[in-house]
Amino acid sequence: MMKDAQPIHSTHYQLQRKGDAFQLQRVPRQMPTLKADQVLIQVGAVSLNYRDLLILRNAGQDSVAGQIPLSDAAGTVIAVGSSVSRWQVGDRVAPNFFSNWLGGKYQAQHYLNGALGGANTEGVFAEHIVASDNAIVAIPTHLSLQQAASLPCAAVTAWHALFERGHLQAGETVLIQGTGGVALFALQLAVAQGAKVIITSSSDEKLARARELGAWQTINYRQHPNWDEVALSLTDGEGADHILELGGPDTYARSINALASGGHIHQIGVLTGFGPTPNLWPLQFKNANIHGILVGSVAHFNALNDFLSQHQIIPVIDQEFAYEQAVEAFDYLASAQHFGKIVINLQS
Ligand SMILES: NC(=O)c1ccc[n+]([C@@H]2O[C@H](COP(=O)([O-])OP(=O)(O)OC[C@H]3O[C@@H](n4cnc5c(N)ncnc54)[C@H](OP(=O)(O)O)[C@@H]3O)[C@@H](O)[C@H]2O)c1
Repeated sequence: MMKDAQPIHSTHYQLQRKGDAFQLQRVPRQMPTLKADQVLIQVGAVSLNYRDLLILRNAGQDSVAGQIPLSDAAGTVIAVGSSVSRWQVGDRVAPNFFSNWLGGKYQAQHYLNGALGGANTEGVFAEHIVASDNAIVAIPTHLSLQQAASLPCAAVTAWHALFERGHLQAGETVLIQGTGGVALFALQLAVAQGAKVIITSSSDEKLARARELGAWQTINYRQHPNWDEVALSLTDGEGADHILELGGPDTYARSINALASGGHIHQIGVLTGFGPTPNLWPLQFKNANIHGILVGSVAHFNALNDFLSQHQIIPVIDQEFAYEQAVEAFDYLASAQHFGKIVINLQS
C-alpha cells in the first residue's frame, strides 16, 4: 500500500541492438511498481558520463540489450512504499551509482548487481524510477535538479579518490587530466580544499576557463605531449601529490613520471583505451600509491554533498538537452567539445 497516488503512464529510453553497438529508443511503459521499502521518483534531469558512451558503443564487457541506460539522475519523490519513513513526497533526491553499496568495504557484487544502467541493474533514463529508500541521497538545497543530476558518477568518483582514499590536504598539488565531468569536479573540490591544481586540456580556451575556476597551473597536452615533464618543472622537480589518472594507456606512464614521492595515483579512466601496462618499477622508488577507484558508496555521496553545501560549490554544466534530444546529447558527448557536464532535462 502506497502513501500517495501515482500517475499511470511513463516512458523510458532503452538500448536496442544496432549492428555491433546499440541505439537509443524511447518507449512507453507501465509505471514502475513500488515495493514497501522503495520510493517512486519523478526524474527532473539526468546527466551523461563517458561510461554511457562506452555502453552505447558496446565497448565495455556488459550485455545491456533492452536495458534502460544511464546512472545519473535527480528528481522528486512522488510516492513512498508502506515501510518508508525517512523520505516524504516532495523530497529532492538522487540515486547512488551503486544501488547496493551503502557504505563500508566495497565488494565485487556491488558492481555486478548494483551499477545503475549496467548489465544487471536498470538505469535511470526514464520519466519515473523506483529506488530503495537506503540507496538514495538528499540533494544539496543550493543545487537545482539539473545541477544535482551531474553528481552521482563523476562527482562521487572525484570525491572518493581525493578525499576518502587520498585524504587530500590543503597545499598539496593535484594533477588533473582534461576538462570533462570527473576532471572539473576534481578541480572544484581540490580548490575548495586549498590544494594547488595543475590541469591539462587539448584546448587553451578550456584551460582559461579552468583558471577562472581556480586552477593554479594549466598545460595544453596537444602543444606539450610531454606534459609530465612540464608538470615536474612547474613543481620544482617534485611532481604532483595526487594524479587523477583519466587517460589510461596513453597517459599512465607519464602520470607515474609526474608523481611526487609518497604521492597517489587515482586510477579512474579509460579515455585512451583499456588495460594500461605501465612500468610500475618507478613507484617503488617514490614510495608511492595507486588507488583503483570505482565511483563510490551512499556514504561517500552524502559526505560529498556535505562538502558541496559547506563550500556552496555549483557543478559546471556545459549544456542542457531536452528529453527528446537524447541522440543529440550523446553525439555532443562523443564530440568531446564539452567543459564539465552534459545534462538532459526532463522538466518542461
Ligand atoms: N572508475 C570510475 O569509477 C569512473 C567514474 C567516472 C568516470 N570514469 C572514467 O573517467 C574518464 C572520464 O570520464 P568523464 O565522464 O569525466 O569523461 P568526459 O566528461 O567525457 O571527458 C572527456 C574529456 O577528457 C579529456 N581527454 C580525452 N583524452 C584525453 C587525454 N589523452 N589526456 C587528457 N585528457 C583527455 C578531454 O578534455 P579536453 O577537451 O579538455 O582535452 C575530453 O573532453 C572516462 O574514461 C570514464 O570512463 C571512471
